[in-house]
Amino acid sequence: MTSPFRPLLAAIALACAPFPASAQDNVLNLYPARHYQTDEALYADFTKATGIRINRIEASDDQLLERLKSEGANSPADVLLIVDAARLAQAKELGLFQPVRSKLLDERVPAQFRDPDGAWFAYSTRARVIVYAKGVVSPADVATYGALADPKLKGKVCTRSGSHPYNLSLVAATIAHEGEAKAEAWAKGVVANLARKPQGGDTDQIKAVAAGECAVAITNTYYYARLLRSQKPDERELVAKTGVAWPSLAGHGTHLNVSGGAVLKYAPHRENAVRFLEYLASDSAQRYFADGNNEWPVVRTAKVSNPALDAMGAFAADPLPIAALGRHAATAQKVVDRAGWR
Ligand code: FE2
Repeated sequence: MTSPFRPLLAAIALACAPFPASAQDNVLNLYPARHYQTDEALYADFTKATGIRINRIEASDDQLLERLKSEGANSPADVLLIVDAARLAQAKELGLFQPVRSKLLDERVPAQFRDPDGAWFAYSTRARVIVYAKGVVSPADVATYGALADPKLKGKVCTRSGSHPYNLSLVAATIAHEGEAKAEAWAKGVVANLARKPQGGDTDQIKAVAAGECAVAITNTYYYARLLRSQKPDERELVAKTGVAWPSLAGHGTHLNVSGGAVLKYAPHRENAVRFLEYLASDSAQRYFADGNNEWPVVRTAKVSNPALDAMGAFAADPLPIAALGRHAATAQKVVDRAGWR
């Protein structure tokens, strides 16, 4: 997701070592690629329960990964919070994380949503869905991702770049279920159906559908949920003109992606970091975490009451382990490159 770097924090960070380094401090140094209103309560509750103060450097997912790479062993960061399965896998491959063994996390976070080696844990899920123009396309026309590559939709499909992590993870899921050759045929079919050159973010695709520039588009659910909760007339209009379909991936259900967290390899406050990851799996933290961005909690006992998510309806989610998306990420990039999905 896009997270504009907070100028003040950035200035402080560049001017000096961001956090005074002392392993004795009862603090947690957090690098979150998220900043939602509910996060203030999320962090305040942790501090209240544990006495551990949280320092934050907020930036985008990719900026935080770059920062950690350049900081190396001198990094003051304890915990990283980022989105997308492929990014989590990439950070693990780069050796940025240290494995966490926690009975509590293993019990509360379903195996589908954590790294088998304990390198990262997902805390919320989002689905990648199809938005369609009401009156032009029916949900039945887009009941599968395969429909996006059907010549019936020639000139009618809008998407962001195929190289964006959200689309790479969708292609990775296709590879996991159907193999590389079928995934490539699908990506080529999508490219052949494009209404315009891939551009913008997911919300821009929803706008293009509402404007009649295309009939269908791919988006993450939270972008649509955000519009559903909006009071702005122009955003209400986008919702009125469009609907959400829950495509199935080769009969397995709708593709899920995640946001997640990990303890960093050089965490100066390792114990506090593990406590924070465990706290994020509590029912109350799960509610803040998921609801902050209109997502679903991973912990089954955590209940979120979000009218926008309810309004989008129920769906069958792909049970594919999220770690599989990372394993196929490099192949997915090759597939979109060969398909010319720029
Ligand atoms: Fe996003």
